[in-house]
Amino acid sequence: MSSAPAPAATIVIFGGSGDLARRKLVPALFELHCQGQLAPETAIVGFARSVDSDEAWRADLRSALAEFGQTAHGEEEWLAFAGRLFHARGDLKQTQSFVDLKARIEAIEAERGLAGNRLFYLAIPPSGIGDAAARLGEAGLVHPAEGPGPWSRLVVEKPFGHDLASARELNEKVHASFRERQIFRIDHYLGKETTQNLLVFRLGNGIFEPLWNRRYVDHVQITVAETLGVEGRGKFYEESGIFRDIVENHMLQLLCLVAMEPPVAFEANVVRDEKVKVLRSIRPQTPEEILRDTVRGQYAAGSIDGRPVPGYRQEPNVAPASGRETYAAWKLQIENWRWAGVPFYLRAGKRLPKRVTEIAITFKTPPIALFRRAGVLVQEPNVLVLRIQPDEGIALRIGAKQPGPTMRVETVKMDFKYSEHFGEKTPDAYERLLLDALHGDPTLFARRDEVEAAWELVTAVLDVWRENPARDLPNYEAGTWGPEGAMELLARDGRRWRRP
Ligand code: BG6
Repeated sequence: MSSAPAPAATIVIFGGSGDLARRKLVPALFELHCQGQLAPETAIVGFARSVDSDEAWRADLRSALAEFGQTAHGEEEWLAFAGRLFHARGDLKQTQSFVDLKARIEAIEAERGLAGNRLFYLAIPPSGIGDAAARLGEAGLVHPAEGPGPWSRLVVEKPFGHDLASARELNEKVHASFRERQIFRIDHYLGKETTQNLLVFRLGNGIFEPLWNRRYVDHVQITVAETLGVEGRGKFYEESGIFRDIVENHMLQLLCLVAMEPPVAFEANVVRDEKVKVLRSIRPQTPEEILRDTVRGQYAAGSIDGRPVPGYRQEPNVAPASGRETYAAWKLQIENWRWAGVPFYLRAGKRLPKRVTEIAITFKTPPIALFRRAGVLVQEPNVLVLRIQPDEGIALRIGAKQPGPTMRVETVKMDFKYSEHFGEKTPDAYERLLLDALHGDPTLFARRDEVEAAWELVTAVLDVWRENPARDLPNYEAGTWGPEGAMELLARDGRRWRRP
């Protein structure tokens, strides 16, 4: 990605007054504006049913910025940004609204001297995505993918489908109006600084990559733990569950970056080819193996930071006997030369005691217990922890001799903290991803085959789960590290989960 301002364009946000636009997209665009990353002509159009005028939309976004913006801003900056904001009232279900939108965009383009580049951002519920993409094409809003003229691009939020069949169907629908190179499927975990650093850490340093394989690595744990519950999204969670919400996308993306082969170039398709290879090398599991190697959990009432919180079944819009999972653990095997025999353990959970996303690589212990005679019976393995958030950083746990006349080994930590070295403020993932989409760089976005390969794996598990409903839910108290079964999953292999 270049550091020059992005090419001038009209950014159209569908769901312009929705939660994502207010919380993430507009604050990110404002940051980019303040950093001089947006071309002066660039306009931002909010398409929504509920917005009446430019002024009303601007006022709403101003309060959104006050609530969710990263930095405080002055009146002058706000006024300059507000000058880029336009509303377009419309209904996603009505073809006429798209015809009107076209006229509105063309008028804004003419007024601001824009050449016609368009970035369509679908920040709308998943059920509306296919139709909205199709209507954009039908209304003639999309420029051809080839040729020297202005470009059109589509940014799509997750979840991209509900299972393999619906993901394929959605891809077909979206492809009716957009070519693959025009489609930017967002997974905001890829925009996180520390996720990107994973590749720099592995491949920009000479010392780690030689160890990054089955000869030296015992196993890998990937954790996405949240203290949050379903936060008013009971209806969505009832349909989705954490396996679709977090494992299918964020976790499999992290897994790909940890496990993939070094790409021959840092280019979108080369990187994405390597990620797809990882997904395709994951060993398919039989239904019996799925039941053995996956764990479902659901939180019961408990307490987080000393504060009582309700159980999942007591959340609004959740069925009183819901069988939906808010915790999932999964043991995977990647069957390639690098990783054969190294288990990857994934776990994601809501209402766990701590918010933490990390990747922990546990190395094999030395082949000889040299200090056994001196009474050191168990030597802890070296663990490399890549902390994605919060408290971003990298830590290596190593054994060191305790000072003194006897041979005692203690595990100590070499710790690199982003905030200590680079300062507190890290750009939000959406800033980076919006900028990349404007620059036309899809490296950090999911490609069609990648999404379908991920759904293929996930759908196999979901099918077995559906056939075999969990009978023990809820099975963990809010504020604990998840169900017993998850502990057993590792205990069976003589291992245990890290307590981050
Ligand atoms: C979203 C999920 O994709 O990611 C949420 O829908 C989850 O359920 C969120 O809370 C976590 O994102 P982050 O950036 O806070 O780790």
